[in-house]
Amino acid sequence: MKQRKKLLQWLEDRTGLVKVIEEIAIHPAAPGVKWKYVFGSALLTAFIMQVVSGIGLLTTYVPSAGGAYQSLQYITHKAPLGAFLRGMHYWGASMMIVLIAIHVLRVFLMGSFKFPREMNWTTGVLLLATTGAMAFCGQIVRWDQNAVFGIVAASKMAAHVPLIGLWLARLIIGGNVVGTYTLSRIFALHVIFLPILLASLIGLHVYLVLRNGVSEPPVPGRKVDPATYRSEYHDMLRKEGVPFWPTVVLRDFVFALCVVSVVLLLAWLVGPVKLDNPPNPSLINAHPRPDWYFWWLFALLALLPHSLENYFMVLTPLVIGLVLFSVPLVSNRGERHPARRPLAVAVVVFLLPAIAALTVAGWHENWSPRIDAAPLTASLIGASSGPVYEGAMVFNRMGCLFCHTIEGHGGKRGPNLTWIADKLTRGQMTLRIMNGVYNMPVFGRILSTEQTENLLDFLATRKKPGFVMGDQQ
Ligand code: HEC
Repeated sequence: MKQRKKLLQWLEDRTGLVKVIEEIAIHPAAPGVKWKYVFGSALLTAFIMQVVSGIGLLTTYVPSAGGAYQSLQYITHKAPLGAFLRGMHYWGASMMIVLIAIHVLRVFLMGSFKFPREMNWTTGVLLLATTGAMAFCGQIVRWDQNAVFGIVAASKMAAHVPLIGLWLARLIIGGNVVGTYTLSRIFALHVIFLPILLASLIGLHVYLVLRNGVSEPPVPGRKVDPATYRSEYHDMLRKEGVPFWPTVVLRDFVFALCVVSVVLLLAWLVGPVKLDNPPNPSLINAHPRPDWYFWWLFALLALLPHSLENYFMVLTPLVIGLVLFSVPLVSNRGERHPARRPLAVAVVVFLLPAIAALTVAGWHENWSPRIDAAPLTASLIGASSGPVYEGAMVFNRMGCLFCHTIEGHGGKRGPNLTWIADKLTRGQMTLRIMNGVYNMPVFGRILSTEQTENLLDFLATRKKPGFVMGDQQ
């Protein structure tokens, strides 16, 4: 006992940290915070887990364009615990995104960003952006076909920035072509630059949380007034505060344990995402697809009309960033309870379903041609020889099927052609096929006259079996 005291005294004398830790442990926290407030600390746990699994992967991963893909194959299929480690890193990243979303929503809806916690919010927005960049770079260092698609998309986005666009795009790619220098650059971001930034921001964020104290749960009618808030807050802590240690810490610990267990279980049972084909920048990927948390952005960019795309590519991230930053500037005082902040609730009620709908659209990914679509069958065509049949074969062979559906067969990039003859005349169809339209290729020079005629004969059969009046009695 005496020795322990002596040791602590020595440590305090040499470091001054014992008092600091003691003060943090015994400081009273706002009452009634309960389980709604566990997400922030769980994020810290998830981040530490990412560092651990990341270092594990780093011991075997080869950051070169020629070796990255093979080294990931090796990690996934041969290295002991390799697949588990990749799974941990992937599900850990997913978990971080989910926790961040919940944490941001909680802070936003409960008005916790208001005075004096504006800077907590600002550092939080920077953390959100850095985590997003981390997740993006993580998908690039996977260095498969999707990664190449991702980096090309990002450089395209950057190229639309006025004045410095081209320079920015070259900076991201590391030259004019996607290759070894691209990977070196993104790898350096993913394992050094961004993690250091992330850790520093986390430090700052946690410091601010300790300095300003966690916000007390909002009560309708109790307004934040910068002139009196601090003294009221400290009075409340003195009277009703709950001890940080062990009450709050225990709750955080139990939830963090759940988070770790879920990630480990998913890594074990589901495993890592499958590697796409090896990268080949000269091949166009038929099914490019980022990880699930970027599907909404992927869908947004794919579904936008071509003429708006350029603006949106630059404006989307810019607007999201500006809006997030400005939240405490717009309102840092007044009511905190969601029941008294209809506008804030309306924003969430509008945004959440919009992001969910875009995520689902990104999952279905109907804008990509389906090169694996099953060909039209004779029974569907209604003939097994003759011009109509030959026309349907042209439809199968010339790739019309990849983009157009007929009775459930085919892709969904272009309009459904099941009953096209009810909609367009033969002349109109000829024009569309010969000359193309936006996103519809030009077939004028590809098809022979005979092929075209057969194709049109086939399309002319695509009429709804109308019924004759009087049939029904
Ligand atoms: C790369 C995908 C793609 C391929 C391949 C393709 N189309 Fe299209 N097609 C489209 C898109 C997209 C549209 C809609 C264009 C628009 O109006 O914006 C379209 C429109 C059409 C239309 C007009 C439909 C309407 O409702 O207005 C016809 C007819 C058509 N395509 C027939 C064909 C035929 C026949 C082939 C094969 C020779 C073919 N398409 C190949 C994407 C494709």
